[in-house]
Amino acid sequence: KSIKDAANEEIYAALLSTVKEAAADKGRNISEIGRKVYYISAEFLIGKLLSNNLINLGVYDEVRELLAANGKDICEIEEVEPEPSLGNGGLGRLAACFLDSIATLGLPGDGIGPEIVREAKKVLDKVCEKYGHSFSYSEVLLGGASIDVHGVPLTDEAIATAKSSDAVLMGSIGGDAKTSPWYKLEPSKRPEAGLLAIRKALNLFANLRPAYLYNELRDACPLRDEIIGDGFDMIIVRELTGGLYFGARKTTEENGVRTAVDTLSYNENEIRRIAIKAFEIARKRRNKVTSVDKANVLDSSRLWRSVVEDVAKDYPDVTLEHMLVDNCAMQLVRDPKQFDVILTENMFGDILSDEASMVTGSIGMLSSASLNETKLGLYEPSHGSAPDIAGQNKANPIATILSAAMMLRYSLDLDKEADAVETAVQKVLTAGYRTGDIMSEGCKLVGTKEMGDLIADAIA
Ligand code: IPM
Ligand code: MG
Repeated sequence: KSIKDAANEEIYAALLSTVKEAAADKGRNISEIGRKVYYISAEFLIGKLLSNNLINLGVYDEVRELLAANGKDICEIEEVEPEPSLGNGGLGRLAACFLDSIATLGLPGDGIGPEIVREAKKVLDKVCEKYGHSFSYSEVLLGGASIDVHGVPLTDEAIATAKSSDAVLMGSIGGDAKTSPWYKLEPSKRPEAGLLAIRKALNLFANLRPAYLYNELRDACPLRDEIIGDGFDMIIVRELTGGLYFGARKTTEENGVRTAVDTLSYNENEIRRIAIKAFEIARKRRNKVTSVDKANVLDSSRLWRSVVEDVAKDYPDVTLEHMLVDNCAMQLVRDPKQFDVILTENMFGDILSDEASMVTGSIGMLSSASLNETKLGLYEPSHGSAPDIAGQNKANPIATILSAAMMLRYSLDLDKEADAVETAVQKVLTAGYRTGDIMSEGCKLVGTKEMGDLIADAIA
């Protein structure tokens, strides 16, 4: 049944106004609230993703009642082929409002954040143009930028906007701790607290950080040629909402002696869900998981190891090895080829991912995705806000552009489009263009903006 056949002006109009009103109440435009709704049939099949939006808008029951009064129901369907007649007829128009209008949230943040997010958007705009999508962006402040305007590094509104988006693209946060007034505030009010708060609020427990050495960047890799060999390709799966980052902490003083305490705690459920992610990812790669811990000292690591071993039983096709974190830090520079998926807790993952980025040439290349159990994810480069080069058109936007590619892949199910972005990055590197951080002899030095232009132009 085509959408044209199903068109029913009256129901359409009622449905549309219900949703429009709800959207307006939340200060949003109808074209911003949808995600991919592929098909609305005569039976008023409404895509699962649309029904999620209706739930977010708090009008699910209202829409359901309205449909029921007309003998129809909301059906949740996962995915069907796009309907060619979308855009025609009453229901078609409703569908068209939602079709591929993907709401993404940009959190440019501080330092180089705004410039690198701008370039990533440029590339996404090109993807939209080539592949016939339309993304709508809301932009909210995070980190120091938010402190300056709102007095806090993350507002409740920003969290609400993030929750009602399909994906969140982030720049970077933080300033120079020596000079920036943000660091005169108490720790819970500083820029970093905003990042931790949004990770927690969205329950983004799985942080994926791929570290891949582009052949073109071999010269930027600090390791010797015989260590590099054919290059390496690993992904760090970092637990992101537990451990030391979120355990109780305090500083006390007794008899003139100050004592500071940070708590490292994990429960088995937190370990299990991140381990499952790592094994699932390994299955799509080279079937190897290296679980990194400090089980020779820490109880939390001993629990980690035993839960990971349990999970591994469900993945007999994936090889599991355990490695102590100090050894892993050494192996990353001694023989990075051995790694496929590195699974580790929050703090170890923070440290090891910086190290892994350096062996791929530059932290300016390292993208990341932070995911929860739903499709919503937060995508950000693994690097910081580099206040020393902010606003100078020097920053490498590639990590953010590759993060946008991860967003296309993981949150929006646009694999072809994600491939196109990754291929475009590859092409521009092959053509010899480099930002300062990855510059080597014989290459062409370009700025942030030019790098964005080149990659956008290379989208095929
Ligand atoms: C990262 C960063 C953050 C972290 C900081 C900015 C709080 O280093 O994303 O790796 O430690 O998680
Ligand atoms: Mg870090």
